[in-house]
Amino acid sequence: MKEPDILLEEINQDIKRTLSEKRYIHSLGVMNKAEELAKQYHINVDKAKIVGLAHDIAKEMPKEEKIAYVKNHDIEIDEIEKINIELLHAKIGADICKNKYQFSQDMQDAIRYHTTGSPEMDDLAKIILIADKTEAGRKNINQEEIKELEQKGLEQEVVALLDRSIIYTIKKGGLIHPDSVYTRNRFFM
Ligand SMILES: [Fe+2]
Ligand SMILES: [Fe+2]
Repeated sequence: MKEPDILLEEINQDIKRTLSEKRYIHSLGVMNKAEELAKQYHINVDKAKIVGLAHDIAKEMPKEEKIAYVKNHDIEIDEIEKINIELLHAKIGADICKNKYQFSQDMQDAIRYHTTGSPEMDDLAKIILIADKTEAGRKNINQEEIKELEQKGLEQEVVALLDRSIIYTIKKGGLIHPDSVYTRNRFFM
């Protein structure tokens, strides 16, 4: 992997060109929030920033391209991902970052787990999931609520944020990915 600053700039240029302005700004927000959390929890700050910036790199890939990508790269997809193609941006993003930027395994996993969570997630993955759901630009959660969640510590904040996502998905009549339930149960106290 390249020097952190060089890699950050390379990813920045790539996503600035390929993502919508809204998603690009979200990516910068996740990078900044991940940096803040990494400092707070003594996690590698360079990795947190790089993964935060890159986490949605595949988000806006058209549906047909996502389907073609997983086929061409032998990426296994589960029953829920077959129906909710959008979810694939996590696995595809991890694969792109492995091939294009030589991300280490923990960095790839943090991207892979950022939407659904995973019982296997380490601290880097936890802060990326939290940063994705609480970055400053998010409109569906206010700063008061975030402050309250931050009192809970890393794992219980992940549980609380997954609860919110699960409730939101049920309300809009969507499918719950089993990994979100497994993760919630794994870390729930
Ligand atoms: Fe995402
Ligand atoms: Fe995101």
